[in-house]
Amino acid sequence: MKRILVTGGAGFIGSNFIHYVLNNCEDVELLVNLDLLTYAGNLENLLSVQDDKRYVFVHGDIRDSKLVNEIFDKYKFDTVVHFAAESHVDRSIVEPEIFLTTNIVGSQTLLDAAKRHWNVDPDNKYSREYLPGVKYLQVSTDEVYGALGKTGMFTESTPISPNSPYSASKASADLVVRAYYQTYGMPVNITRCSNNYGPYQFPEKLIPLMLNNAQHNKPLPIYGDGMQIRDWLHVSDHCSAILTVLKKGRNGEVYNIGGNNERANIEIVRLILNELGKDESLISYVKDRPGHDRRYAIDNAKITTELGWSPAYTFQRGMHETLEWYLNNPGWVERVVSGDYLDYYSKMYSKA
Ligand code: NAD
Ligand code: TYD
Repeated sequence: MKRILVTGGAGFIGSNFIHYVLNNCEDVELLVNLDLLTYAGNLENLLSVQDDKRYVFVHGDIRDSKLVNEIFDKYKFDTVVHFAAESHVDRSIVEPEIFLTTNIVGSQTLLDAAKRHWNVDPDNKYSREYLPGVKYLQVSTDEVYGALGKTGMFTESTPISPNSPYSASKASADLVVRAYYQTYGMPVNITRCSNNYGPYQFPEKLIPLMLNNAQHNKPLPIYGDGMQIRDWLHVSDHCSAILTVLKKGRNGEVYNIGGNNERANIEIVRLILNELGKDESLISYVKDRPGHDRRYAIDNAKITTELGWSPAYTFQRGMHETLEWYLNNPGWVERVVSGDYLDYYSKMYSKA
C-alpha cells in the first residue's frame, strides 16, 4: 500500500481517513484525493495536510471515466479506497437519481479503471491475474441489510434488503463490486460500517445537527418516537478498521465494522443536551422519515476474530471529544451552514 487513491476525501469519513493515513502509515508514498466537492465536500477539513508532499488533490467526478483513467495512468495507484458517495438518507428520499448515478455508476467507473490498470492482460476477458499487492476497497454501510427488529444482528451473510434510495444505491454498488470479483477475479473487499460520529461531520446528520441546533436554542427535530436504534462508531475506529482490511482482508470478502454500541436516537439527543446544559424542552417530535429503519446492529465477530481489529474508543470518550471538537471549531460549522465555503470553492476554481 504505497500509492493510494482516496475518493470523496473532502467529506466526513474520507477527510478523517486521509489524516489517519498520513499520520500513521509510513509506507505510503502518495495519496491522491479525488473529490467533486459537492455540498458535502469541504477542503477546509484538509488544510493541515495540503502542504504534505505525499498529498495531491484532484477536483473531479468519479463518474468521469476519462479523468479517472488519466489519474490511474499518471499516479500508478496500487490501492483504491472508495468513499465518494451521496450519503444522506433524507436527501435520497427527495432526490434519488443522483444517488443512483454517483453511488452505482461512480463505483463501476472506478472498478473499470482499476481493472484496466491492474490486470496483467487487460484485453483478455479471461485473465484473472493482477499486479501484486493491488486492492480495491468499497466503503459500504450496514444500511444495505435493511432493518432489524428488537433482537438479532447483521452478519456478513444477512440478506441484502435495503429500504431507502440511499441504501439501495449502496447495495447495488456492493453487488457490482462482488460481480467484478466473481467475473474478473479482481482483488476487492467490501466493508459495511455502522453509523459514524466524530469531527468534520456535515451538520445534516444526527449528532452535529442536534449539537448545532441545541447551541443556538433551536428545536431538535426527532423523527417519530426517537426510539430508532443505531450502532455508533467513532470515525477514527472506522479508519483503523479500513486499514486492517486493506492489509489483511481476504480478496472477495465482506467485513462488517461496528463497535457494539447500540443507542436510541433520543438517548443521543438527551446526552447532547445534558453536555451543553440545555433544556429538554428543545426536543421537538416531528413526522417520521418515510421507510425509517427501526434498528441497526452489527455483529463484528468476523473482523475481530479473523483480522484482529477492535475499536479503540469507548462511546463516552468518543462523544466527549466530538462535542469538544465542535464547540472548539464554531467557525467550521458556521461556514458550512452559511454556505460560505461554497463561495470559497467557486472563487477558487473560477480559473479552471
Ligand atoms: P460525505 O457525504 O460526508 O462525503 C462524501 C464525499 O464524496 C464528499 O466530499 C463529496 O464531495 C464527494 N462526492 C460526492 N459525489 C462525488 C462524485 N460524483 N465524484 C467525486 N466525489 C464525490 O459522506 P461520509 O459520511 O464521509 O461517507 C463516506 C462513505 O462512507 C460513503 O460511501 C458512505 O456511504 C459510507 N458510510 C458512511 C457512514 C456514516 O455514518 N457517515 C457509515 C457507513 C458507511
Ligand atoms: P442520520 O444521521 O441521518 O443517519 P442514518 O439515517 O444514515 O442512520 O440519522 C441517524 C438517526 O437519527 C436516524 O434514525 C434518523 C434520526 N434523525 C432524526 O431523528 N432527526 C434528524 O433530524 C436526523 C437528521 C436524523
